[in-house]
Order: sequence, then C-alpha cells, then structure tokens
Amino acid sequence: MFKKVLLSTIAAYFLVGCGGGSSSNSSDTSTTIIVERGAVLNATVKDALNQIAIWNKGTNSYVFKNSITYPISVIGGFVDINNDGIKNDSDFDLDIELKSSSGKNVTLISTIIYNQDKIREKNNLNILSKEFSLSEEELLNLPSSKKELALLSNVIYKNLELNSAITLENIVELISLNKIDLKQEYEKIDLQNYTNLSSKEFLEKNELETIDEIKDIKILREKLPSYIGTDLTSTEVLNEKSAYISPQCYTKTQDENLNVYNPCYSCHINSDEPNYIDDWDLQESYAFSENSYKNPFTNSFKDRTTLVNAINDNQILEYINQDNYKDENGNIILNTKLKYDLPKEWDFAYDGVKDSVWSGYVPDCYFNFDDEGFDKDKKGEFTGWRVFAYSPFLGTFWPTNGSTDDVLIRLPKSMMLDENGDFSKEIYKINLAIVESMIKRKDIDLGFEVDESKYGVDLNHNNILDKTSTIVYKWITPDAISNYPKIIYYNYYVGLAKSKLETNELNIAPGLYPNGTEFLHSVRYIGIKDDKSGIKLANRMKELRYAKKTTWNTYAQLSNAALSEIKEKDTFPDRLRTIKGNIETGLTTGLGWNYQGFIEDINGNLRPQSYEETLSCIGCHSGIGAITDSTFAFPRKFDSADSWYHWSKKDLTGTKDRTLSNSKGEFAFYLEQNKAGDEFRANDEIKNLFFDANGNLIQSEVDKVANDITYLIYPSVQRAIQLNKAYKIIVNEQSYIYGKDAHIKPLNATVYDEVEIDKKTGISAIKF
Ligand code: HEC
Ligand code: HEC
Repeated sequence: MFKKVLLSTIAAYFLVGCGGGSSSNSSDTSTTIIVERGAVLNATVKDALNQIAIWNKGTNSYVFKNSITYPISVIGGFVDINNDGIKNDSDFDLDIELKSSSGKNVTLISTIIYNQDKIREKNNLNILSKEFSLSEEELLNLPSSKKELALLSNVIYKNLELNSAITLENIVELISLNKIDLKQEYEKIDLQNYTNLSSKEFLEKNELETIDEIKDIKILREKLPSYIGTDLTSTEVLNEKSAYISPQCYTKTQDENLNVYNPCYSCHINSDEPNYIDDWDLQESYAFSENSYKNPFTNSFKDRTTLVNAINDNQILEYINQDNYKDENGNIILNTKLKYDLPKEWDFAYDGVKDSVWSGYVPDCYFNFDDEGFDKDKKGEFTGWRVFAYSPFLGTFWPTNGSTDDVLIRLPKSMMLDENGDFSKEIYKINLAIVESMIKRKDIDLGFEVDESKYGVDLNHNNILDKTSTIVYKWITPDAISNYPKIIYYNYYVGLAKSKLETNELNIAPGLYPNGTEFLHSVRYIGIKDDKSGIKLANRMKELRYAKKTTWNTYAQLSNAALSEIKEKDTFPDRLRTIKGNIETGLTTGLGWNYQGFIEDINGNLRPQSYEETLSCIGCHSGIGAITDSTFAFPRKFDSADSWYHWSKKDLTGTKDRTLSNSKGEFAFYLEQNKAGDEFRANDEIKNLFFDANGNLIQSEVDKVANDITYLIYPSVQRAIQLNKAYKIIVNEQSYIYGKDAHIKPLNATVYDEVEIDKKTGISAIKF
C-alpha cells in the first residue's frame, strides 16, 4: 500500500518534470501546481482571483482548470512527512500561508521571497542565492528535488517556528542585514554523509529530524536559566573610557630600595611586520595622558580577605565543578538562549528598536574532540573548531595567576572543502598547517604524507609536484601590479581555497590569517583533581571569548592604520581610542578583527559582555607589540604535528620552557626580569619558591622550570582554591569593569592608583 502511493506521487512529479501537468481531460489552460514544505496535502490552493485548484487526492499536486492569475496562495492542509498520502501522527497541520508569484511550485522559499513589488522579489531571491550559493533558478525548485533545498527549507522553517520575531515577511531582510546567520546552521549538515539517500528520502529524514529538534528546543527553552540583571545594551561607559589599557600598565616598576621590575616587556615589545605597533618604548616610561593616568581598575585596591573567608572550600569546589556551558544532555545553553530565548536586556536596539534577534556570535563549539583535536557536535558532525596545545603567554594566563584556559581555531569554510565543495579533513589539515607556517614563518611538519599532485600545489617548494610531509616556509612576493587591483599569489592554499585565493576572495601573507578566521578562548576557574593531587581545567567557565577576522588588510593598510594612530596621538595627545561596536556584534579593533565575550551573570550563567566590558579585549588584541595579527596563542602553538589536542587529554606537565633568541628560557627570563611570577608581584607562592629573602632568584629552582614549566605556572591546590574564591566575589558584585584579576589583599604597595604622566619606569627596555 505504502509503496503504491509513493509511486503515484513520483508519477505526479514526473508529469510536472516533463512540463506537462495537464490531466487527461483538461483543456490547454489547466495548470498543475505542486505545494511542498514537505508535501502539503489537502490544502486550499487559490489564485489571485480566488479560483480554487482541485486537489489530486493523496498527492501534493493541485490543478487549476482555468489560466492562473498570480500570486497563488496556500492555506490549511497538512504536511505529509512520511509521504504515505494520508494524515497520521507524525504529520502536522500547515499553519502558515504559502505563496508564489510565478511558476508551478509553491514552497517556503517562494513564500519568503514573495513581494508585490517584482524588483524587491527579485532582490530577495538574489540575496538567498548569494547567501546559500544556490542559483536563483535552483532556489525555486522543490525541496524534494535537491538536498540543499530540503535542508534550507528546514532551516528556515525551524527559525520561523522558534523565534516569533522572525517572520515570513522579514526573514530575508534579517539575513541580508546579517542579523541572523542561517548559513551557519545550513552549512552544519554535511550532505556528503547522505549520498546513499535520494533527495526525496533526505527531505523526509531531515524533516523528521527538524521536527524533533524543534520539539526538543521548545522543551529545552522552558528549562533555560533566566537572566536576572541589568540591561547590558548601553554603549555608554560608566567607569573610564581608557579601560582598554590593561591593569598591568599601572604596576610600580620600582620599590623603595630602587629595585627595578619589568613585567612590561611581555606586551610592549619590538614587533615584526605587519604588526607596526613596535611599542617597546612603553617599557621605559609611563607615557599616559590626562585621560589615562588614573588606574580605572579600582578592584585592585580592595581587600577581599573577609569575603574570601566566608566561602568554604566545598562550596567553591562544587561551584567550579559545575558546567555552565553545556547542560546535562550536552546542549550548549547559550546557543539556545541567544537564538530562541533572547532576553530583552541583551537585545541591542538598532535605530532605537530592539528586534528580538541576536546578531552576534552564537557559541557552537561542543568541546568534544576526536583524536586529532577536531570538535564534533552531538550528531557527530564537525563544527570546524580545532583545538591546539600551546605554551601559555607570560604572566596573566598562567594558572597560578588565577585561571585555566584553552584556545581553538576555525578557518573559513572554504578552507575545509575540496574543489567540489565537499568537506575534506586532509585539506583542512593542510590548510591549517599552511596558516601555521605563515604565522610562525617556519616549516611545519604535517605528520602525514601528501601527494602534492593531488592538489597542484608545491607544498615543499622544491619545484616539483612530489610527495611531502612538510610545509616549507618560503614566501614569494605576489604580483600586485600586472593585474591591478587583483593580486596574483605564488603561495597557495589547497582545495577550494586555492581557487578562492586566485579570485582574491581569500588572501595569504606572512604574519596574517586568512579573512574569516575565528578563535575561541574559554577562560575557566582553576579545576582541582578529584584526589586533590593537583589542578586541571575546570568545568565552569569564567568567560567564553571569541574573535573573528572580518576584513583582510594588506601590509600597507595595516601600516597606514598604525601611522594614523601615531599621528592622532601626536596631534591630540589626550585623545583616547574610539572603539566601535555593541553588545551584539562585538567590538572592532580597526585592524580587521571583531571581539566578543560572554561572562558569568550573578547566578553563574554565561551572558554577553556589555560594550564597556568588551573594551579591554581591544587593547590587548590590537594595541601592543606582542601580538601576531591580533592573536597570542596560535604563534605559541607547539610545533609538533601531534600538538592538536585539548588540555583535558594531556595537560602541560613535562612541557619544556621555550628558548628565546637570547638563548635563555622564556619563563626563566621572565622571572629574572620581573622578579616575580605575575605583573602585580602579588603571587606569594612563586615569590617564596623562586626568590630568597633578599629577592634574589634561586637558580636551582629556576633550573627546574626548563624541563617542566608547570613547576612554575601551576599553583598549589590551596592557592587555586583561594583564587577561585576571590574571583567569585567579583562575580557576585558583577564588578568586572573595575578589574577581573583575582587577588585577596589590596595591591597598593605594588600598583599605582594614579601615575605621574611620563614618569620614567627605571627600566632599560628589553628588545628581541
Ligand atoms: C598584558 C599586557 C600588558 C602589560 C604586561 C603591560 N601593558 Fe601597557 N598597555 C597594554 C595595553 C593593551 C595598552 C593599550 C594599547 C592601546 O590600545 O592603545 C597599554 C598601554 C600602555 C600605555 C599607553 C597609555 C596611553 O595613554 O595610551 C602605557 C604608558 C603603558 N601601557 C605602560 C606600561 C608599563 C609601564 C607596563 C609595565 C609596568 C605595561 N604597560 C605593561 C598592555 C600591557
Ligand atoms: C590582558 C590582555 C588581554 C585582554 C584584556 C584580553 N585578552 Fe584575549 N588573550 C590574551 C592572551 C595573552 C591570550 C593567550 C592565552 C594564553 O596564553 O593562554 C588571549 C587569547 C585570546 C583568544 C584566542 C586567540 C589568541 O589571541 O590567542 C581570543 C579569541 C581572545 N583572547 C579574546 C578576547 C576577548 C573577547 C577579550 C575581552 C573579553 C580578551 N581576549 C581580552 C590577552 C588578553
């Protein structure tokens, strides 16, 4: 029975496919219309003059006897999910009005592009075509004719169902304004995994899954933590507009005995092109201005002793062991919250109107890695995120100074695909290695052998297409003249990205990431191993931090940007940086990157950071010499091919100290120059272990760091617990804008609350 009906449905498609559509006894004027959201049965299908089409029972075709006047509208009926021609439990009523202004198909896509104004309708179609890389003609086909269309149709349906602010009328506009990102959801499913299914079978499967998903999300939404707190959408600054300048800059570099401490060089250092900041001179003088000499981070001067003592160890351990990122079923809480339950306090009012849609980053990493560090979602699909192991940056991000963390990278989709647009892990791995080689400016071991002829790229630069397991770093200056403004590159990515490079949709250069690169940084409490023998990455996140390179800037553009900052500073010495952005889109560096963060609300649930809270990101990630195209960790990634793993698999124990160009160990040198293990000289554990009573380094202790950096950068369990408590107090106060560094005693002895402008630090600058 089931088979029979199915066959007759196929027959109906076939007729339409042949451009027929006339039934046996009709005249030339009759037209058959197919309605498909899944197949729509038993609906009322009318034309503009209220002519009602006759339903071909058991199918989703409807026949108009007389010629049609567009638009056609469809109401009522049901979606026949399992295509058996009758209504059963899994089927559901069509609760929206579908429309079409031309052709013989009425679909969700013909409905959302529909506009009385033909030019607008054409424009709508064009927007979808560009966004989803399907031709305008294809888009008007039936969902059952192409898997991409089935998928797209379901993504649209899901968003309409789950967010009442998204409607049939405004959805295309929301897409075109980048206010919603359906592309991300659309691209999440890898159609390669479904080659064994016909497009019709895929439609049915995907439809059932979508409906289940919608049900699940509706249940999940009921259980989401509600946000209780102030409106976070203001772009006004309550504290100081200079808060993009780091707390570390206000450290007293000399003590009463005129000992000199240099915590400054880690950030303010000579830089390589195309980082033109080159601000090593800031080590030498407090070159602040009228608007920045006051330390905005007043939390540094608070005494937390009483509050810390009021929290007992078990309380804080229980707290940090809770996962505030994923729920017990592995769903990303913020993902559902931002997309389908957006609190009005997070909803930025563009043109004064809160539109109930979130247009920023939606967390989509599951922290669920395969053995090569690739992240997979609950269905086992790759999310594109890849985690890597690296040597933590000096000071602030050492666990002994308050937090554990991890960093992930994701390259743009085109760098994961072959020429046919199919996902290829090998291509993605090679492209990641090429990027690593460009960032580090050195050869990168792939860890596997590649046949270069497969990709037409000479990865080892030996002038023949042979086999290699090394990406050789050799930059060949591109030709930017002969085809101006097009740039002709002689260094390549592989796969689809190679042709994107040729059309300049992607770019390549030493020290720069391709446009579209993303980074994720989870900053967590210091976890304690169950047997209390040491520390580990905590479940609870303090913050989830995100960055995306949105625009490619050439060396010349980056140099101009840096020069104009300097000129601005010369002409208006007291003027602070103007930083653009808002809570939803994040803030821009002005050098092509966008930054956004999520932080705990008073109940410990992650919430977006306000404009003011996000200011700090921009200073560190665009205003200092230490960064490479905005970033810290990736240039510090371990070199070996098997360093793509998460700390939960293997921690830093046994990691060697990196050797500097002055042939000293990097961390050992830091101890020597800073005479402390943190920028504020407040880390007593390090002071007591590595320095004698006169403040001199104990060489035998420093020597131990060379073969195991954790001897220095991992705190004792007791210290970890204290720091966790100290930070929790800042969460309770929600006082992040006044400083987020965890400490217990006030830092007045080592940190200025106001600095004398241009005072010398006494440091003679370090340069590498
Ligand atoms: C963790 C990184 C870091 C460390 C360590 C650090 N700074 Fe900074 N510093 C910054 C950032 C970020 C800015 C803002 C850059 C920008 O965007 O203009 C800054 C800016 C400054 C400025 C310019 C202020 C202005 O008005 O423009 C001075 C002066 C300065 N730092 C001095 C120091 C000194 C002295 C030290 C050591 C005691 C130090 N910094 C340590 C990150 C750091
Ligand atoms: C005091 C300087 C500083 C500030 C402020 C800061 N970061 Fe970072 N960020 C770092 C350092 C250092 C790392 C590398 C972490 C490590 O070594 O463990 C990093 C890493 C990252 C990464 C991973 C990519 C990379 O650069 O390695 C992202 C993404 C990121 N931060 C986003 C943010 C966001 C968003 C904010 C604001 C909420 C922010 N950061 C504020 C210094 C800073």
